[in-house]
Amino acid sequence: MKKIKKIMAMFLATVMACSLAACGTDGGTSTASTGSSSSTSTANSDDLIVVGFSQVGAESDWRMANTTSMEETFTEENGYKLIFADAQNKQDNQITAVRNFIQQEVDYIVIAPITETGWEAVLKEAQAAEIPVIIVDRMIEVNDESLYTCWVGSNFEEEGDKAVAWMEEYYDSSETLNIVHLQGEIGSSAQIGRSKALDASIEKNDNWNLVAKQTGEFTQAKGQEVMESVLNSGEDIDVVYCENDNMAFGAIEAIKAAGKKIGKDGDIQVISFDAAKEALKLVLSGEIVLCVECNPLHGPRVAELIEKLEAGKEVDKKTFVDETMFDSATFTEDELKERAY
Ligand code: AHR
Repeated sequence: MKKIKKIMAMFLATVMACSLAACGTDGGTSTASTGSSSSTSTANSDDLIVVGFSQVGAESDWRMANTTSMEETFTEENGYKLIFADAQNKQDNQITAVRNFIQQEVDYIVIAPITETGWEAVLKEAQAAEIPVIIVDRMIEVNDESLYTCWVGSNFEEEGDKAVAWMEEYYDSSETLNIVHLQGEIGSSAQIGRSKALDASIEKNDNWNLVAKQTGEFTQAKGQEVMESVLNSGEDIDVVYCENDNMAFGAIEAIKAAGKKIGKDGDIQVISFDAAKEALKLVLSGEIVLCVECNPLHGPRVAELIEKLEAGKEVDKKTFVDETMFDSATFTEDELKERAY
């Protein structure tokens, strides 16, 4: 009965949201606006679906957009109560948060995992408590796939493949290409997939020379610090492969401070991942030559999975989000205006 009431509340909320505001699509999956609140569509707290969400932290523009997407989706108006826990980039904090969610007897646990490994024990506890676990954004590596219900996120290796295919096309294969590789959080799917693609291409292309490879932990400050030290070493650099926008922002600061020109006709080209609005402004100005999209708007995608599970329907074990890339040679102001985050 409680389940039926919850589904009704969610259905009403969706109808209200769609009629009051815009219902649109993004990245190949449906999105529902949650912007308008209405007392008539607010469910009693008893009827709300309680979702405990363990978020990585606030390390990047992408992460902030992801948090906003979750918060705007899992509202009381939409039939949910969201318990949000920021892990501040520490897996121990995530595990503690999941244990708290189990104690609180939430209806669903949603985890955006920092790293792929280390999840078995706590997921067994969630399974014993019969709480479905949805993994979002990065992936986890477990021996027993039944420890989580489903996953939705990006194909990080494919993102990397897109970037290196662009590089292979763009750069002259008869000249040495000196590459600086700024990696993300080591052990995260985003780092593993994007690094794997570049590693394979360096192996394949004899003229590609790896000048430096170091983590910038997905933050602007660390990206800048690492880039400064690479520039100080005096090595020749042609391209910086930054595994997210914020590290690219830091690298650009460092390159400019070193008196070097960036961009297609400059000394150094910067390639980035995520394609948050601030980065796309730099694609438009040419400071980032290529930005591969990683879509953070997972709130409606997770809600869609929960709605199906509540209705007793099957869900796909893994759902990959459609993504594109933006080349500074073709990117337009109109595309920038359309960007939602
Ligand atoms: O897991 C997605 C990655 O995590 C994004 O590329 C990065 O910006 C974020 O911190």
